[in-house]
Amino acid sequence: MPRTKTAIAVLFPALLGAVLLYAVAAAMTGSASLDRPAVAQTGGEVPGGSLGSSSDAEIWRAIRRGAQGEVSIADKKAGYMIQSEGENWRAIRNGPLSVYGSWAIFGMIAVLALFFLFRGRIRTEGGPSGRTIERFNGLERFAHWLTANTFVLLALTGLNTMYGRYVLKPLIGAEAFATITEIGKYIHNYVGFAFMIGIALILVLWVRQNIPDRTDLAWLAKGGGMFTKGSHPPARKFNAGQKILFWLVVLGGISISLSGIALIFPFKLALFSSTFAFLNIFGFGLPADLTPMQEMQYQQIWHALVALGLTAVIIAHIYIGTLGMEGAFDAMGTGEVDRNWAREHHPLWLEEEEGAKARGDD
Ligand code: HEM
Repeated sequence: MPRTKTAIAVLFPALLGAVLLYAVAAAMTGSASLDRPAVAQTGGEVPGGSLGSSSDAEIWRAIRRGAQGEVSIADKKAGYMIQSEGENWRAIRNGPLSVYGSWAIFGMIAVLALFFLFRGRIRTEGGPSGRTIERFNGLERFAHWLTANTFVLLALTGLNTMYGRYVLKPLIGAEAFATITEIGKYIHNYVGFAFMIGIALILVLWVRQNIPDRTDLAWLAKGGGMFTKGSHPPARKFNAGQKILFWLVVLGGISISLSGIALIFPFKLALFSSTFAFLNIFGFGLPADLTPMQEMQYQQIWHALVALGLTAVIIAHIYIGTLGMEGAFDAMGTGEVDRNWAREHHPLWLEEEEGAKARGDD
């Protein structure tokens, strides 16, 4: 072979190989200039300085973990593509919260049924005396029934929000369930404000008689005389059990109201960030820099948790106020109770009232 032909035969494939190599490298980096690093080494930037999407795994991982990006619209929350805590929230709401909530309610009903089975109705042992005394005046009864009726409405519509799709929907069908739930949502949102007025009224009317004192310890030590016939530990207007109920209703009611307002007006209040920041002063180490979305999630879980707990407690209260104790309902019905009932359940209060009447205070 002549020497020139031999040179071409060697050089041509070498040149072609070099051009091909360059082309592959240029295609990989997206640039004809090979001093730029490859796609995998750009740290997520689109090679060539152009705008566009990146396929960097780190970026997607960060988005998956809820990293916030920039948006030009006013609603900065739109900068979250994936809010991972939302999944935790849903798992808690549909998992332990609803499961333990239903246990609390059915558990309370079961305990009351057992109590009724073994103890029966608590009777007025002295029988009716035929003479009554005013226990709650008109304003007190108005405050009680305002709180009670609104609470029952809120509890029923709230329970429907949580459990209706499992309990009611299979029974009445999707259409009817949707209608009932929509009406229920309006009832829940508006009646909440009337409940708040009820809570404020009972707080003002009854706070003085619900301050704990020494008689409460003796009452609690004897289990309120609930478990033994003939046991009547002394009590003033409200016994220790009623005082506990009062504070649960007032504090629980305020807490449900605040979290309820935060849910009706979304993203306006940051109750948990401020509460956690306050608790952190005492070394709790709670996350005080919550995003607006996390705030909403905490508020929803708290609202439902306290509401379910209070519902279980109120079921016990309704039992004692109706079936559980003879003569109790009259106190909130007519406002008058039999003197023998008062002597057995609230003897110190009866003495105070009779003393006041004798002195002509009334
Ligand atoms: C719906 C059925 C209800 C009935 C039949 C009922 C009945 C009664 C009765 C008879 C009393 C007076 C007890 C006494 O004279 O010592 C009372 C008091 C009271 N009720 Fe209710 N109630 C009901 C619902 C509620 C609800 C839903 C709440 C609160 C959310 C509530 C909160 C209170 C409070 C704070 C007291 C004063 C403390 C006490 O006596 O336990 N009640 N209730």
